[in-house]
Formats: sequence, C-alpha cells, structure tokens
Amino acid sequence: MSEKIKIALIGLGTVGTGVARVILEESERLTRRCGKQIELAKVVVRDKKRPRMIDLPEEIVTDSLQEVLDDKSISLAVQLIGGIHPAKEYMEQLLDSGKDVVSANKALLCEHGSELFSRAREQGRSIAFEAAVAGGIPIIHVLNQAMSGNQITSIEAILNGTSNFILSEMFLGSRDYEDVLQEAQELGYAEADPTLDVDGTDAAQKLCLLTQLACGTKVSLDQFPRQGIDTLALDDLLYADELGYSVRLLAVTRISNNQLEMHVQPTLVQLDKPLAQVNGAYNMIALEGDIVGKTWYSGLGAGQNPTASAVISDLVDTVAGRNKLIFPFMDLWDSQQPLEVLPAEKIRRRYYMRFNVLDQPHVFAEMADILGRNQISLASIIQHETPETGESNTDEQQVVPVVIMTHLTTEGQIQAADKELSELKSLLPNRVIMPVLD
Ligand code: NAP
Ligand code: HSE
Repeated sequence: MSEKIKIALIGLGTVGTGVARVILEESERLTRRCGKQIELAKVVVRDKKRPRMIDLPEEIVTDSLQEVLDDKSISLAVQLIGGIHPAKEYMEQLLDSGKDVVSANKALLCEHGSELFSRAREQGRSIAFEAAVAGGIPIIHVLNQAMSGNQITSIEAILNGTSNFILSEMFLGSRDYEDVLQEAQELGYAEADPTLDVDGTDAAQKLCLLTQLACGTKVSLDQFPRQGIDTLALDDLLYADELGYSVRLLAVTRISNNQLEMHVQPTLVQLDKPLAQVNGAYNMIALEGDIVGKTWYSGLGAGQNPTASAVISDLVDTVAGRNKLIFPFMDLWDSQQPLEVLPAEKIRRRYYMRFNVLDQPHVFAEMADILGRNQISLASIIQHETPETGESNTDEQQVVPVVIMTHLTTEGQIQAADKELSELKSLLPNRVIMPVLD
C-alpha cells in the first residue's frame, strides 16, 4: 500500500474542475507516476452553492481557506484562482503554513513572482507553474531542464490561445470578432476578464515569465511595446494573406548586443514559417539556444484539459519530490547581472500600415512625404480599384484602404510618422500598423 499524500484544491472553475477530475478518475495512474496516493482532501471555492460540473463529497468542499491552512496533514495546495487579490495573499498564507504550491496564475507570478518565489525558498517550499504559460505545452520544463545547457538567444511565440482562436476563426471561417470571442469564453479559453487576452496583456505576462527563466532578468510589462488584436479588422487578415503572410499575436524576446529586445504585437508572419500555420487555440514557441539551435513546441494553449495536464504534471513532480530539486536552481530571483531592455524606439523591423483615406488628389503625396521625411522607405503599396463615380468633387467622398509595406525601419521612426499622419485631414482615424516577421 503506497503512502497517502493529502492535497487541497483552491478554485474549482474551468481548470480546477479538470484537475479534480483527473485526480479522481486517474488515481491509480498518478500513484504509479509519483509513488504516492494523492487524496483530494479539501476544495476551496468562493460560492459553495454554485452548481458544479463534477460530483465531489460534500464534506470536502468549503469556502474557507483557513480550513486548509489549519490542516497540517495537507502538504500541497493547487491554487487555481485568477487575478492578483486575494490570490497573492492566499499563496503567501499557504507557503507560510508549510505547503508547497502549484499555480497557473501568470498575472500573479508576472507581477509578484520574485517575492513569492523568495518567500517559498525561505520557507523551504516550492512553487510550480507549468500551466501558467502555454497551457498544455511543457515549456517551463523545457527551459528549466531540457535546455539547461543552453543560453536561450531568442523566443518567438504565440502565447494566447484566445487571440489565436479569434484570428484564425475570423480568417478561415469568415466570422465576426465578437462572435468568436464569445465562443472562446464559452470554451473556457478566455480569462475571467477577456480584455487581458485580446489587448496583449496575458501574452506579455507569459513572455515575462519565459524571459525571466531564459535570461535571468525580471522585466515588467511597462518596459516593452504591447498591443493586442482588438484593433484589427478582417481586412487586415485578408491583406496580409494577399502579401504572403498570416497575422499572429506574436510575443518576442531576443538577446542582441547584450540587450533584451521584447515586444508583444499582432505581427505579419511569413506564410511558410511554422508560427504562421498555428490555428485555433494552439500555441507555439520557437526557442533558439546557443548550443541546440532552433526548436519548436506546439500544443493547445488554453482550455480545461490541456491546462489540467500541465497542472497535474506539476502535482506529480512535487509529490514525487522532483520539484524540490529543480526549484532552487530556476533563474527566478533577481539576477546579479540583469540585461537591459532595448528602448522601444530602437527596435528595427519592417512594418505593415493600413490607412483608410479619402479618394482624392494629393492624399498619397501627403502620406509619402511624411513617411519619406521620417526616413521610412516603402517596399510595396496596395490600393485596389473602386468603381468609378464619374465625379471627382462630390460631397460624399469615397473612402479607400491603402496598404503600405515598408523596408526596415525603427519603431521610433514609425511612431514619429504615425503622429504626423494622425494630423492629416484626408486620413480616417482607424489606422492599423503591425510589424513584420520575414
Ligand atoms: P475560473 O473558471 O474563473 O475559476 C476560478 C475559480 O476560483 C472558481 O472556482 C472560483 O470559485 C474560485 N475563486 C475565485 N476567487 C476565489 C476566492 N476568493 N476564494 C476561493 N475561491 C475563489 O478560472 P480558470 O479559467 O479555471 O483559471 C484559473 C487560473 O488558471 C487563472 O489564473 C488563469 O489565468 C489560469 N489559466 C487558465 C487557463 C484556461 O484555459 N482557462 C489556462 C492556463 C491558465 P467559484 O466557482 O465559487 O466562483
Ligand atoms: N486565457 C488564456 C489564453 C488561457 O487564452 O491563452 C491560457 O493561459
């Protein structure tokens, strides 16, 4: 008979329900994998009366974290609630009461990870967080273990399943943004506040965690450009396709000249690159190491089962004692020699620009003049023909999209040009500018 280990689950939402189901239904498999029998001793929720998608013994479900803190026989807590508060205070109390913690909360670990990891270390406890980045893809294990001989030199990644699902469903299924976002919420991909998915925040939080592990440098969200998919139109996806690209919300960290280039932005990715072919709620991470070269990892990045798979692997590693060995060596504490983040204005790339302009004389000359004065050289231009009205001076002026691809330039030059362009009366305000990954 194997030793029994009692655990608590804090949160029984999308992910918590999936985790509870695996613990109950795959008990024998988990015992074989970690050498101990895992007993789900307590489940903490906010609202005990809420109907659940899983049947649990009534006596283990509680709305009191204190019951877990007071129970010294519980040695591990799987914390699956989102947001910063009270998640931070809960995690501190769990660590202080002597429990190891497994978490999927990237928002919390991005903002307060350093202090929580230090606290765990001081208490002789561990925090495992495989599910916090890229759902079912074991990328934290890859960085901490499989790639431990390498210095990671670049990360190019699709890290938000909701955004990728929206982009690919809009393009492949000709569906409306709002309609697809609602489906992503129903499928359990989106955060409780889906703004964090579509405005790039969730991907940026995950990129900060990967960057800390890969480069030993803690970077905060305000140190690099972040833009979401919420300003894009179907037209942009179609123009990108016409140009030989697909649009993906790309999170990038590169080390060059001992500086960190970082950004999270919808990006035109050349169609023949693996990242361009990732559809639905799938994520992909392209990691480059100085010894191994380039490697790619792909899988479902959101949803109940993929995320539960990552949480369970942390649970098994912690129960088996493997996480205690790995945790002290993760690059999670303030680095002795942090790398500087390259200022946004110096980031150098090609850009896609879409303007809606009044179809009248001299408009193009005004735009070209502004771009030229900002040292931006044009690589190609698209303006599709519209039906000829016969009148050049009608009161109702026709609006046409103009798409420009630039040669290599900097974010600083693009921002300066964009500011001048915004003052042109012949340009409508809904401009879209995206970097290009060739
Ligand atoms: P969710 O469906 O909103 O579930 C949250 C759970 O936390 C609910 O059961 C809720 O209780 C409980 N809870 C919230 N505040 C609480 C409090 N103060 N005390 C006790 N329980 C509380 O969220 P989720 O999608 O499972 O996500 C959980 C975490 O995993 C988040 O950090 C999220 O970012 C992360 N994550 C999610 C996914 C995904 O695909 N969904 C993927 C990777 C990571 P009630 O049920 O009683 O309201
Ligand atoms: N909301 C997140 C996403 C869940 O869509 O990627 C996985 O972290």
